[in-house]
Amino acid sequence: MSIFQHPATPDIITLRERQFRLFLTPAQINEAILRLGREISDAYEEPPVLVVVLNGAFIFAADLVRTLHFPVQLHFTQLSSYHDEMTSSGTIRQTLPLSQTRLQGRHVLVVEDIVDSGLTLDWLHEHLKTAHRARSIRTACLLFKPTHFKGLFAPDFIGFEVPPRFVVGYGMDYANEGRELPGVYALAE
Ligand code: PRP
Repeated sequence: MSIFQHPATPDIITLRERQFRLFLTPAQINEAILRLGREISDAYEEPPVLVVVLNGAFIFAADLVRTLHFPVQLHFTQLSSYHDEMTSSGTIRQTLPLSQTRLQGRHVLVVEDIVDSGLTLDWLHEHLKTAHRARSIRTACLLFKPTHFKGLFAPDFIGFEVPPRFVVGYGMDYANEGRELPGVYALAE
């Protein structure tokens, strides 16, 4: 999958004076993404258009597209719900809009790094249905926090169900730090 050799992944890291412990190794993530690639490829007769939710999903999306068995069309949107905090704010901001034209009548696969409260997904579902007239909408996420979830649309393809702990790495940040970490780290308790 990734063309790069992963650098060493320490067990403990510190970001902004907080300690985080290794939670998912690069090897575990790779294995999950290969499985997701097979599940998604098997699920569609007609290739979906991928809508990648920036910023957090950029590494997951880059790895996922290389496991899919169909030609991939990609669009990007930027949504923000955490606003540098450790819990989701519940207020969604769309800071990079989608183009209007290409999603009408198409199957859309939303690519998310994490589904937490589910409010971002709810917002995006509504937006893709009403503003873009997507034919169907499904979601692939690396991480899903079922205990926090209160949305209308649960993710369809899930890498890992995780406990309600703050996580960082593999695209996900703490106050815009830690996105480059090749593993996922959880806030040490
Ligand atoms: C994160 C994540 C999802 C959203 C999930 O984005 O990438 O988009 O929160 O939370 P929810 O299910 O509670 O709505 P964030 O706001 O951290 O922006 P970022 O991806 O740019 O870091």
